[in-house]
Amino acid sequence: MCAAKRPIGIFDSGLGGLTVLKEINKEMPGENTVYFGDSGRTPYGNKSPETIVRYTRQIVRFLQEQQVKLIVIACNTVSACAADIVRDIAGVPVVEVITPGAEAAVQATNNRRIGVIGTRNTITSEVYIRAIRDIAGPNIAIFQRACPMFVSLAEEGWWDNSIARAIAAEYLTPLIENDIDTLLLGCTHYPLLVGAISWVTGPAIRLINAGRRVADQVRAALTEHDLINPAEHPPWYGFYTSDSTDQFQEMGSAFLKKPIDDVKRVNIELY
Ligand code: DGL
Repeated sequence: MCAAKRPIGIFDSGLGGLTVLKEINKEMPGENTVYFGDSGRTPYGNKSPETIVRYTRQIVRFLQEQQVKLIVIACNTVSACAADIVRDIAGVPVVEVITPGAEAAVQATNNRRIGVIGTRNTITSEVYIRAIRDIAGPNIAIFQRACPMFVSLAEEGWWDNSIARAIAAEYLTPLIENDIDTLLLGCTHYPLLVGAISWVTGPAIRLINAGRRVADQVRAALTEHDLINPAEHPPWYGFYTSDSTDQFQEMGSAFLKKPIDDVKRVNIELY
């Protein structure tokens, strides 16, 4: 197959990366995509970096077997713990999610007080503190909080019910008290909970979902490597998961607002 016609490979620990896929499909409607969600081993956010590296290597091997032309790490935790490894082994261009999110947050803030939420691994790695300071300099206040239960809520489909709102209030109230004007959703699962999160933060705090900027970076990388699909045929979308295809299909269709009819189960431990 001619290189440009090959699919873009996108992966996450579960459904969260669909928030990135949605933007890629919208921005580049001519591109074929393959999505892998590691729902059988989610969450990644509390696991050791060694485990995340092992999982990541397996997923990259799977995506290579799908002959992808570019890999999107649609997971902040993997971007924080294993982006260099993906770049080393991928053999194709790689786009991660940290830099686009940091850029968007710096651009959005007026009072230079930014809240960052993510998984325990992402927050502990301080990757966003470094990325934001690299862009904006040291004179910027950053307040971080790990919100591990958000991932379970997102995978369960409890995106904006009373429990999601109560948990969001518990996690976010201390951040809001720091007078932030911008909240960076530093986990790709969190945009699924935007209803519950914005119910707590209110209209004065801007929520940053990096998906759109990630899509821009994907387009830039494809252009640079002469890999834009000439799109002579309608695109095709492959969906793969390491766990129940029914759950993936139900939640994925609800989020993408279009039916995903064919989800395949992969035994990722074989890779
Ligand atoms: N969606 C992922 C992220 O962006 C990982 C969430 C998890 O599995 O804990 O960090």
